[in-house]
Parts: sequence; C-alpha cells; structure tokens
Amino acid sequence: MSSTVKQTVFLVGATGKTGGSIARALATKPERFEVKAIVRSSSVDKPFIKELKSLGVKIIIGDIANDDQETLQAHLKDVDTVINASIPVPEDKEHNLIRAAKAAKVKRLVPSDFANYAPPGSMQVQDMKLRTQRFIIDNDIPHTFILVGIWADAVFPLPQDADSDNFVSDFLQKQFHGPGNVKTSWTALERVGEFVARIISDTRTLNRTVQTWDGEATLSEIYAAASKVTGKNFDDYHKLSTEEVESKCGKDFLPSLPYEYSRSLWFRGENTVESVVAAGALDARALYPDYTPPSLEEFAKKFYGKQ
Ligand SMILES: NC(=O)c1ccc[n+]([C@@H]2O[C@H](COP(=O)([O-])OP(=O)(O)OC[C@H]3O[C@@H](n4cnc5c(N)ncnc54)[C@H](OP(=O)(O)O)[C@@H]3O)[C@@H](O)[C@H]2O)c1
Repeated sequence: MSSTVKQTVFLVGATGKTGGSIARALATKPERFEVKAIVRSSSVDKPFIKELKSLGVKIIIGDIANDDQETLQAHLKDVDTVINASIPVPEDKEHNLIRAAKAAKVKRLVPSDFANYAPPGSMQVQDMKLRTQRFIIDNDIPHTFILVGIWADAVFPLPQDADSDNFVSDFLQKQFHGPGNVKTSWTALERVGEFVARIISDTRTLNRTVQTWDGEATLSEIYAAASKVTGKNFDDYHKLSTEEVESKCGKDFLPSLPYEYSRSLWFRGENTVESVVAAGALDARALYPDYTPPSLEEFAKKFYGKQ
C-alpha cells in the first residue's frame, strides 16, 4: 500500500517532456520526495532547470550514456528510487545505470518505458524496452515498469502548418489512421507525473508493470472532440490505409517507427487496458480509485488553448 515515508528519487530526463511532468509532480510534494536530477552539461542552462532549482530539486551534471558505472553509482548513494525518463539510449549504455542501481542497492528502478502497450514482435521500439526490462529482471533488481498508453498530446490532430516536435508527431497527428473505430488507451502528458508519484510510493507496484490511463478512445472520437473544440473540420487529412502502413513496418528502426505506432494503435488495437491487464499489468485506476481523469473534451480544450 501507499507509503508516507519520504524518499529520495534520482531522475533522468527532467528537462524532457515525460521527465518534466514527473519532476514537477515530485518536486511539488517536498514532504514525500527529495529529487535529484541528472542533467547533461549542455542542458543546465535550460529555463526549466531554474524552475526545478526553485522547487528544491538538486541538479547533478552527468550523462547516463557516457558516464561509467562507478560515477553513476556514486550519484546513487542513499537514493531510494531511480526513474529514467530519457529517450532510450543504446541498451548497452543504459546498462551502466542499471548496474549502478543494483550496486547502490536502490529500492526501486523505473526504466524509460512510459509507453503504449504492444505485444512482443509488434513494435521494434517496445521490443527494445522489453529487452531492458528483461535485463533488469534477470539482474534481480527491484523495479516497476510504467506504461501510460499513448499521450493524448500525441494523437490529437495538429494543423498541417504546426511546428510539431518531431517526425513521429507529424506522422501521427497530421493524418487519419485506419478505420477510426479502433480503441486506444491514453494519458495526458501532464498527468503522467501525478500517476508516477503514486506508483513509486506504493508497495503493491513493486516488481510489477503498471498501466496508467485517463481514458480510451477511437480516432474518430478524438477527431470529433477536436472539431467540437476548435470548430475546424479535419476531413481533408490524408487517410492511411492498412496496405500503406503494413508495407512500411518491420524495416529499419527509425523509418518504421511511426508506421509501427500507427499499426499498433489504430489498426491492430493493441494498446487497450484490457490487453495490458491480460498481459499481467496492474491497472493504476483500480489501484487509485480517487484519481480524477480529464475527459477527452476537457483535454482537447487545454490542448488547443481554449480554456
Ligand atoms: N506514451 C507515449 O505516447 C510517449 C510519447 C513520447 C515518448 N514516450 C516515451 O517517454 C520516454 C521519454 O520520452 P520524452 O519524449 O519525454 O523525451 P524527451 O522530451 O526527448 O526528453 C528526453 C530527456 O532525456 C534526457 N537525456 C537524453 N539522453 C540523456 C543522457 N545520455 N543522459 C542524461 N539525460 C539524457 C534529455 O536531456 P537533454 O535536455 O540534455 O536533451 C531530456 O531531458 C521515452 O521512453 C519515450 O519512448 C512515450
């Protein structure tokens, strides 16, 4: 059950999107968490670092892909929980952090999952994360694997001329995928941190996979919410067919990546709460019945800045 004992958390990726959500959620609960964030020297001047410092987060300069195990281990002295929210670094590089966590006897390691659910063999990026999970289990390290469905922020349609973050967003959010009636689970990015704060304080989640979700929706429902809030019609968006998507999956990692997301989320319907629970995960909403999720429309209002 939930522990009220204060814990020290070592966070990787605090300047990123997932890590930022987690850093805010933990740092605003100083009675429960002391946060140490490892930040690359090239990123210490990012404006968010100032905010984190003002919230009491201790900044440690380092790089999990290049620092050796001993250096990382020294940072983990007296750390209870390690959370990695970086974009996955090459697996052998991430192993230094994992070995350091074992040597430092941390009580819980959360690797960089924060992903949608896809069964083995469906998405190369998830297979890579599964290999990291296997390495952690095989090394007998106390852990929690956290899946969040897809971020709602990553599926609502963007204007064609929007400056999106990356090629995956451009691909996922400027086209319509599949028949539109395939359900997927979603969590608002800003809520990820709130779930993580609960999950890492909970003994029930130790050595388990946990799935967070604010809702489940089809792409047609998401587009309908987007149209209602923006008054825009997204009917002219290119509609991706099964053939187009299938022909691009299973090739080289990066070019296949957006197509494998599309296929898993919007064609195969793999990312549902039912599927992930059937695969053995705990349902965070069942663990935390007092959690109040935003509705799809509430999220859309925030996303499009109408609130
Ligand atoms: N479920 C979903 O819909 C969804 C969507 C997107 C991502 N994700 C997953 O969420 C996780 C985080 O992705 P994100 O998009 O939030 O990441 P992001 O915004 O790109 O941020 C990555 C963070 O990791 C840090 N970092 C990268 N390499 C590092 C290193 N070698 N040492 C220390 N820090 C390093 C970056 O620091 P700098 O400031 O120095 O760059 C940054 O803070 C990934 O596992 C990703 O697959 C899930």
